[in-house]
Amino acid sequence: MNERLRKLVETLEADHQDLTADLRILEEFVLVGKGSPGPEFWARVVETLNRVHARLKSHGELEERELYPALRMATGEESDWQLGMTEMQDGLIIKEVTRLFNLVSENPRGISLPELKESATHLKRWLHEHMEIEEKFLFPKILKLKPPSE
Ligand SMILES: [Fe+2]
Repeated sequence: MNERLRKLVETLEADHQDLTADLRILEEFVLVGKGSPGPEFWARVVETLNRVHARLKSHGELEERELYPALRMATGEESDWQLGMTEMQDGLIIKEVTRLFNLVSENPRGISLPELKESATHLKRWLHEHMEIEEKFLFPKILKLKPPSE
């Protein structure tokens, strides 16, 4: 077992859990928010989006830097569609979170509650797909790789 890659997978899995928790928080806000929620509600939405954005950015960068190259090198074209899918999901998620963040940070009423609700649903689905592909297919592959010296 390659210790460096095992630690990488552990870090990425922990990120997935944190991101899931953040999106659950966002979803809960959306569920409790009715009519026209006050500034406190929007401040918490901005805070959550800010956290999701920062986490996603570092998560995506770590995957691009460490996970994808290791998989490409070890499995060749075999992992292409899975890598392509997770990279696409990453792109969609980060684009949508950035859009939301810009909207609500400039003007807390820049987005309506139904729009936020729809957006949170998309984010949840994309993140779920990203995690499913990685945890079901890519992480097990990377965990099977041997260190270069073995
Ligand atoms: Fe990931």
